[in-house]
Amino acid sequence: MNISIVGSGYVGTTLAACLADLGHQIINIDIDEEVVASINRGDAPIHEPSLNALVAEYGGDQLEATTDYERIRETTITFLAVPTPSLPDGSLDTSVIEDAAGSIGRALHGQDNRHLVVVKSTVLPGTTQNRILPAVTSATGTTTESEIDVAVNPEFLREGSAVADFLAPDKLVFGIQGEAAVKDLEAVYAPLISRADPAVIETGLAEAEFIKYANNAFLASKVSLINELGNIAKEYDVDAYEVADALGKDHRISPHFLRSGLGWGGNCFPKDIAALIAAARKQAYDPSLLDAAVAINDRQPERFLELMDAHVEVAGERVAVLGLAFKPGTDDIRNSRAIPVIDGLLSRGAEPVAYDPAASEKMKETYPDIEYAASAEQALEGAVAALIVTDWDEFAVLNREFEAMAKPVVIDGRRVVEPRDGLIYEGLTW
Ligand code: UGA
Repeated sequence: MNISIVGSGYVGTTLAACLADLGHQIINIDIDEEVVASINRGDAPIHEPSLNALVAEYGGDQLEATTDYERIRETTITFLAVPTPSLPDGSLDTSVIEDAAGSIGRALHGQDNRHLVVVKSTVLPGTTQNRILPAVTSATGTTTESEIDVAVNPEFLREGSAVADFLAPDKLVFGIQGEAAVKDLEAVYAPLISRADPAVIETGLAEAEFIKYANNAFLASKVSLINELGNIAKEYDVDAYEVADALGKDHRISPHFLRSGLGWGGNCFPKDIAALIAAARKQAYDPSLLDAAVAINDRQPERFLELMDAHVEVAGERVAVLGLAFKPGTDDIRNSRAIPVIDGLLSRGAEPVAYDPAASEKMKETYPDIEYAASAEQALEGAVAALIVTDWDEFAVLNREFEAMAKPVVIDGRRVVEPRDGLIYEGLTW
């Protein structure tokens, strides 16, 4: 099929490369000329395992990037995968997606073939029907509303495993308002449906929009709940990971997202929960459980630092911060728990020495003045404490490196380091 995708960010590029891999001919539109050039020469514009290999294979050929919206006319389906950022009050900013929808409409001006616009971006219920569809149709001019169909197809990919998640989804959600869109979406995903046998859920546009928020709110709240239980467990010297192992055996709970510690970051959980909370308040509903999930998450870094304070006075001392990315396998630092940890160290007058295998360059934009080490070993040298912030595998094999510390205090926020003789070790929830 000939498919266009608007947006070459994290979602758009992954979708474009994976749909090319399913055998489709893809036109990927973005306003950023550098990103377009990078895709066409076979370089993925973002750091994501396995994505580079796909972009190298299809970029410039079966996956063609362009800044030219007119190329949409060569396709019958357009996926909208542009950012939907938060406004300062947490509510959703739909201006980018509405502008993109208008550009799609202008490109389709005068065309009378049916065209399906599929919303991949995360938007609140009603946005596709009430804002995106009108933005397209008001710009198409002679094309009537019946010739433009819309669907909502939320994505559940995780950063760091987006390609693998795409190829083995638990579910595909098709928010539709007519049978034609289901057939189109089934055709897009046909190779995946036959290969991976995901649950295919057909639902309304608004339900599909809401499912995405509910999914992320559920997972983030699950982590906050295990963190709250973990904080209480720690007070009783109870190991929250042993508790979680038992909890996870109950099929009603499942073993996933029960890793307690420093909490959740990234672009998605914080943004989506803030948008859902703001939307609930707008409807005069008090989302007290979601508020609590955020409050627990916000508190974890300070609890973590207080454990450090109990063992060592850090003013004027080097403290190793191991891990800057919001989770392993990515260079993304957005809402990383490393940020409040570094702020807490600076407010204590400490000298943070940061190390991350992928995210140091990005963190330098936020904290240009702190010291960055080239390895964990270098960060540990002369430090009075080591703070484990991200669960990168390479931190699990640190051993003799701790011997170079001025004081061997290890505060582990992710259950990565094995406690052992010679270390003053504290786990956040164990
Ligand atoms: C999340 C969702 O998992 C995806 O399904 C969704 O598509 C994506 O948001 C999105 O909306 O785009 P992602 O943000 O990439 O994916 O990362 P996750 O693997 O979900 O982790 C989120 C945060 O929770 C990380 O900071 C991680 O360290 C933390 N976490 C996760 C825990 O603290 N404990 C756990 O047990 C699991």
